[in-house]
Amino acid sequence: MNEKMTVASLIANALGETDGNNYVKFLETPPDRKMGDLAFPCFQLAKTLRKAPPMIAKDLCEKIEAARTPDLVDNVQVAGGYLNFFLNRKAVTEAVIGAVLTQRDDYGKSDEGAGKKVLVEFSSPNIAKPFHIGHLVSTALGSSLERIYKFLGYDTVKINHLGDWGTQFGKLISAYKRWGNEEAVRQDPIDELLKIYVQFHKEAETQPELEDEARAYFKALEDGNEEVTRLWKFFVEASLTEFNRMYDMLGISFDSYAGESFYSDKMPEVVDIMRAKNILEESDGAQVVRFEDDNMPPCIILKSDGSTIYATRDIAAAVYRKRHYDFFKNIYVVGTPQALHFKQVFSCLDKMGMDCAEGCVHVGFGYVRFPDRVLSTRHGDVVLLEDVLTEAVEKTREIILQSATSKHVEDLDYVSEKIGVGAVLYAFLKNGRERDIIFTWKDMLDFEGESGPYVQYAYARGKSVLRKTAEMGIDYSGADLGLATSDEEYALVMLLNRFQSVVREASEKYEPCVVTRYVTELAQQFNKFYNNCSIMKAEDSVRDARLKLTEAACICIRSALNLIGVEVVEKM
Ligand code: ARG
Repeated sequence: MNEKMTVASLIANALGETDGNNYVKFLETPPDRKMGDLAFPCFQLAKTLRKAPPMIAKDLCEKIEAARTPDLVDNVQVAGGYLNFFLNRKAVTEAVIGAVLTQRDDYGKSDEGAGKKVLVEFSSPNIAKPFHIGHLVSTALGSSLERIYKFLGYDTVKINHLGDWGTQFGKLISAYKRWGNEEAVRQDPIDELLKIYVQFHKEAETQPELEDEARAYFKALEDGNEEVTRLWKFFVEASLTEFNRMYDMLGISFDSYAGESFYSDKMPEVVDIMRAKNILEESDGAQVVRFEDDNMPPCIILKSDGSTIYATRDIAAAVYRKRHYDFFKNIYVVGTPQALHFKQVFSCLDKMGMDCAEGCVHVGFGYVRFPDRVLSTRHGDVVLLEDVLTEAVEKTREIILQSATSKHVEDLDYVSEKIGVGAVLYAFLKNGRERDIIFTWKDMLDFEGESGPYVQYAYARGKSVLRKTAEMGIDYSGADLGLATSDEEYALVMLLNRFQSVVREASEKYEPCVVTRYVTELAQQFNKFYNNCSIMKAEDSVRDARLKLTEAACICIRSALNLIGVEVVEKM
């Protein structure tokens, strides 16, 4: 429902203009609903109209009252320099609930992104290295951003920029040839590969020739040596099997796994372009790009031995992506500690003059802190994703088993997994991404606080009422929504109405937390409505109107949870 446009048009008409668009952006939502649903501050008109704001408000109010037909707007009032608009609750409720119940899963979607490609690069773990908690934050954030952009009609591509190239693979190959065991790697790829990698570093301290051997192996890999390539592929595939198990648990997939190795043959061209543009300089034998900004250290492109680094591969990747996808946006969801790296990469792209940097965005995030450290310590200081997920599911199961209302839930395994995994995703997407995430089991699994389970529970509650009424054969499709306009009900309707603008705000700020907060508010308001407006004990006509509200709330909660990657359960 576009109530803002309706009100803005009334204002435009009263000013003798035709286009309401100029006034939409000035409309505010008053802090207290007693002051109306929308307020128009008249201050910005004072200069052009040469009148005091309260006078302007009074004039406008009279003109609007004389001209308007009483449909969406019920009443207009002057309050100082403000013009307050009261909407007609019945009309608003009919428009909003009507839209949700006809558009259903499409409610809130938009086609504003049609024809625009948005690449979201996220997760991007390193082959043969543990998938740590930072990768999980990237995975949760990136997957959510992709869903948000897709919801707004953008053509999205999910990219996993695997860390599958670099001199460390020379070390790993050397280590494997010395101490590796194929069977052990197949059994437990990351643990085993990490173990021999650590061993390599230890032994190299006393046997420096190991480093030369590793360099030679990486060179062989770059040159496409068959045996070395076969081993590298084995490491990549074994690691991916392990990563995919976690992606499956999270319900996440990718469109492309083009990682760093994919760009290994695309770097010479980048170096050529840089040479042609005269931006490469020599520094201690290495080739670097320098920046005008003194706070930005030079970016190394070629090391003194001629090999490329992480940054070179990122520059090649951006050039490739621009050509291959012609992206509108190229979003990198990577921890804030890499902010400087991306600044350097984007500046190099700028200097190359290929307009690849335009549309590139680094979406950073803070650290995760575990004040209660009750996580399994199997892996020492690294907190592994799999441990977190498994523990969340186990703890959820315990809570359900202890709950009076939920312990008889039919599919305990399924429900605990969805609620447990959802709780983790929710916890990561609850606050602004630049802030550190304070992860405690208590907050995360608090069924009464701001948590995933709390929102899931509101949904399941609504669904349970709807199931009951379906069993009773109640048809509420013709309900009169004019009977559901109490404060509690109206607040719920106004929240449902905000959905699309919430999703848009989340996309503009690259902040899924905007959606998380919204769905929490929605669940809280639904619970207030549910507790204060009895449904099944009300008169039939009122009950029916409330059932419509309940159904609309469930649809919107499910869609919003979906945008943060959380899957609902119908019963809990
Ligand atoms: N693999 C890297 C890491 O684990 C993250 C990659 C980020 N993406 C990029 N295009 N550099 O730190």
